[in-house]
Amino acid sequence: MAKEIKTIGVLTSGGDAPGMNAAIRAVAREAMARGKTVKGIRRGYTGLLAEDIVDLEARDVSNIIGRGGTILQTARCPEFMTEEGQEKGAEICRKHGIDSVVVIGGDGSYRGAQKLAAHGINTIGVPGTIDLDISCTDYTIGFDTAVNTAMEAIDKVRDTASSHERCTIIEVMGRHAGYIALWCGIGCGAEQILIPETYDYDEQAIVDDIIDSIKRGKKHYIIVIAEGIGHSTSMARRFEAATGMETRATILGYMQRGGSPTCKDRLYASTMGAMAVELLCQGKSNRVVAYKDGEFTDFDIDEALAMEKHISEFQVAIGKSLNV
Ligand code: ADP
Ligand code: F6P
Repeated sequence: MAKEIKTIGVLTSGGDAPGMNAAIRAVAREAMARGKTVKGIRRGYTGLLAEDIVDLEARDVSNIIGRGGTILQTARCPEFMTEEGQEKGAEICRKHGIDSVVVIGGDGSYRGAQKLAAHGINTIGVPGTIDLDISCTDYTIGFDTAVNTAMEAIDKVRDTASSHERCTIIEVMGRHAGYIALWCGIGCGAEQILIPETYDYDEQAIVDDIIDSIKRGKKHYIIVIAEGIGHSTSMARRFEAATGMETRATILGYMQRGGSPTCKDRLYASTMGAMAVELLCQGKSNRVVAYKDGEFTDFDIDEALAMEKHISEFQVAIGKSLNV
């Protein structure tokens, strides 16, 4: 029989994502409702190793559900990649009476949680990243806000591209994954969506299509490109030279990570944060919360990290067929 947990630590790690605050709030409030003590670990694993740990009371998480960013701050921590760092982190948890930790972050952060669990601290991961690049889950906190932010920005860029009869290349985030580009490319009816999973680097085919679209009287030509392909500025120069159509590049950048989370992000973050506490109270550890095939569920971290993710071939296809 697993020992009853008493004190839950919560941290955010890796890139911030809108909805992380809603997840922190859910962890804190659900834990308090079950009579647990809650501690906030600031600045991810960096703050853990620096013992930057604060008590969280119910009021400390008031009015944060609609705020972007993370009140606990976040960081990337190379020291936690080492065995010594991980052992030290677990010791610090014990020193502060923390028997369990909820880690809100991406794949990398899950690996940290896995190591903490191996050193005797109960851990549950909650998927927080705008990139949607975690294999075990169809949803990650922050993605919905990020794609809506990007979509609105692309709609605005389209207005000016259309007025000036320009080609415009808009680069969106996603690290090595193309989900943000695919979603907002379909959502905006972009003429081209270039994602690392499928892009064949055939620039001539794109140049031919731009020239063809000019002949058909199109007033603008929108290309959404994922940062995993990158080089949008030099691509714009090449396309302008080859097509004669004025071409601009816009890199949307960090605006995609900020802003007030959408209702979907708030709801999923609330559900997943509370589920993490539920799992800990059931005596579970080394697991991650996920949303898979229409259900909230959980997986062993080792299994979750071994899973592969595939982008929808059908959506890639309609990104071409619908956007003629
Ligand atoms: P994300 O969680 O968004 O994928 P990172 O990959 O940057 O972001 O990982 C966040 C942090 O998680 C890293 O800075 C490091 O502290 C920790 N981490 C990543 N990989 C490992 C690992 N293999 N072992 C222990 N900790 C890790
Ligand atoms: O993982 C979220 C993300 O915004 C990626 O889309 C991007 O590649 C990366 O983080 C940028 O990281 P940094 O904040 O270190 O520049």
